[in-house]
Amino acid sequence: MSDPVGTQSTEVGLAQDMPEGWQGTVTVDGVDVLVVNFEGQFYALRNNCTHKDFPLLGGDVSMGRITCEKHGAKFELATGKAKTLPAVKAVKIYATQVEDGVVYVSPL
Ligand code: FES
Repeated sequence: MSDPVGTQSTEVGLAQDMPEGWQGTVTVDGVDVLVVNFEGQFYALRNNCTHKDFPLLGGDVSMGRITCEKHGAKFELATGKAKTLPAVKAVKIYATQVEDGVVYVSPL
């Protein structure tokens, strides 16, 4: 049987254990990566605000954006783009994949 999930993929866990609104982190190539279930879709981005070195985990998520709890910058989950000041640089994003009910993250 071929393995559709790439060798660079990191397993996050079972999709059923990560309902809408869920947030968690995994380590990909030594980088802390935030995984978010927003409206049934999984998004993954580096767990560091680009304004200062502050984790995005636990930030409020709405309208497809996560808010940094430190100074309120918002980042678009799908693109990593900074949408509000004080951040201007995008956050690196990662690919997500659900295979047989298991969520994986891999570098883009
Ligand atoms: S550290 Fe995130 S907005 Fe300042």
